[in-house]
Amino acid sequence: MVVLWPLSGLRLCLLSAPSLVLFASLVSCAVNPDELHSGHWYKLGVEDITEALQRTQNTKVARNVLLFLGDGMGISTITAGRIFKGQKEGKSGEEGYLSFERFPDMALLKTYNVDKQVPDSAATATAFLSGVKGNFYTLGVTAAVKNGDCASSLLPENRPKSILTWAQETGKETGLVTTTRITHATPGAAYASSAQREWECDAKMKQEADPSVLHCKDIARQLVEDQPGMNLKVIFGGGRQALGAQFDNSTATSCRRLDGLNLAHKWQEMRQAEGASYAYVTNTGQLRDVNIDNAEFILGLFADNHIPYERDRDLGVAGEPSLSELTATAIKRLSRAEEGYFLIVEGGRIDHALHDGKAQLALEEMQTFDAAISTALELVDLDETLVIVTADHSHGLAINGYPERGNDILGTSFYKDGVTDGMPHMTLMFTTGPGFNFSYDGTKVARVNVSGVDANASSYMFPAAVPTKVGWSMHSGEDVAVHAVGPWSHLFHRTHEQTYVAHVIAYAAQVGPFAQQRPEAPHALCSSSAVAPQVFQAAVVLCAFLLLLQRV
Ligand SMILES: *[C@@H]1O[C@H](CO)[C@@H](O)[C@H](O)[C@H]1NC(C)=O
Ligand SMILES: *[C@@H]1O[C@H](CO)[C@@H](O)[C@H](O)[C@H]1NC(C)=O
Ligand SMILES: *[C@@H]1O[C@H](CO)[C@@H](O)[C@H](O)[C@H]1NC(C)=O
Ligand SMILES: *[C@@H]1O[C@H](CO)[C@@H](O)[C@H](O)[C@H]1NC(C)=O
Ligand SMILES: [Zn+2]
Repeated sequence: MVVLWPLSGLRLCLLSAPSLVLFASLVSCAVNPDELHSGHWYKLGVEDITEALQRTQNTKVARNVLLFLGDGMGISTITAGRIFKGQKEGKSGEEGYLSFERFPDMALLKTYNVDKQVPDSAATATAFLSGVKGNFYTLGVTAAVKNGDCASSLLPENRPKSILTWAQETGKETGLVTTTRITHATPGAAYASSAQREWECDAKMKQEADPSVLHCKDIARQLVEDQPGMNLKVIFGGGRQALGAQFDNSTATSCRRLDGLNLAHKWQEMRQAEGASYAYVTNTGQLRDVNIDNAEFILGLFADNHIPYERDRDLGVAGEPSLSELTATAIKRLSRAEEGYFLIVEGGRIDHALHDGKAQLALEEMQTFDAAISTALELVDLDETLVIVTADHSHGLAINGYPERGNDILGTSFYKDGVTDGMPHMTLMFTTGPGFNFSYDGTKVARVNVSGVDANASSYMFPAAVPTKVGWSMHSGEDVAVHAVGPWSHLFHRTHEQTYVAHVIAYAAQVGPFAQQRPEAPHALCSSSAVAPQVFQAAVVLCAFLLLLQRV
């Protein structure tokens, strides 16, 4: 509910408060009074055009690459996350930007899997991490591998290398950070090849009807025993149980090993055998105690299953570090790499909250992800570091109706003239999900009256049009955005295949398929828009000359 007072151009908004507490929770959402005048929008126009004209194309080799992946972070989630962030700061919210929304370059990515119109996280991760599309539920393998086909997943030609391997082959150091289990789909595709994303530990493979799948290696073992996982300098996430290193033996939360291996121990033994300095940490206090200048390898496993949602995270030293703290620690460690580094950071639980129909939690996870990106931007040199922010796929989250400016993004709105049942609706709703709440009263289908619901409560599930089991709200298939800054970020410029992300990284950093040879770019001067106006004409002549030389 929203009340607006036209008060010499200043609007005061009340953010979705039940009517009884109207005045108790009065919030000035501070819509800028300048917005009433054309001058404000003209000024923004000039500022943005000036910025656009000053864009330069950085054609240096990217020494470092930071890939931020918001799992399930479709464009509606970005928009809602932007409004949510602004409203937390006491603003109306719509006018702001997230940390990455002012990057100079962006594009759209097509996310389909080879066998699915709407994709899953494993095959999309293969796309942006290996530059090759795969089939639904397969991870780090080409589409020649069908879901569950162990034998074909073992053929070398069906196991494309990921950007981590490319980076390591050129002497770069690598890191992987996530809020999910470290063996989950997105991080898994960075280091493993598996015909089934659920083969996170041996137990899941032993459940399969076909015993020949046991010729394949589970994802957790690939992380510790094989390349490129064994060379990762930083591994931060959850998932102790899949590695056989769980604290709680009483429950099977994900995949509990049957082979008795403790891969966290094994990882430490391998470091000892190499004579390398290392740290294995399981909580925030231990992470802070690591001597970053000394430890060569750091393994941080902060939960048996996923790291808890930001809302549920234990903020104490015995609890779990924030995604920002993990990101900062990883960057500080990797910054000493002589040949540069690649770091992948996943905000993995945006997707989980959306699967639950819990937009309130998804937007908090978005805010955490955004904060981690801000933290990283303070620590890196964008002249030599390519920073990419993207998503694997979208979700069926819609921003509905005609809510007033500054209306609580988690609140309701009511379009009396259009809605036929005379009731308000939630601004955020899902196309599919567990929050389906329609009933039939004998004459008509009715939905729940959402006036006054506590949409901030952890248990609340936003309404959905198609009912699903809890946790099973589905992905959606429209394009996702990719935002980029740093060397060669301008290679993102239109609608691309999702696989393009890995190829841009390879080109920018001169690794993998572009380690030796790259398609020829026009001379740097000719492609640069940074040329000062006074030398522009001279540059044009010079460019023409250089292009002529290139031809002869
Ligand atoms: C869990 O079980 C393993 C293997 O049986 C054992 O080594 C470990 O100490 C147990 N952990 C706890 C917390 O009981
Ligand atoms: C549907 O609405 C009823 C009545 O408000 C509520 O008791 C129930 O928990 C809701 N169910 C779901 C799945 O949201
Ligand atoms: C919906 O609930 C609100 C608040 O309880 C109430 O004022 C309103 O009349 C209800 N609308 C309908 C159509 O039942
Ligand atoms: C939403 O709930 C969280 C957790 O209980 C709380 O910290 C936060 O202040 C609540 N937000 C609002 C707007 O009430
Ligand atoms: Zn998902």
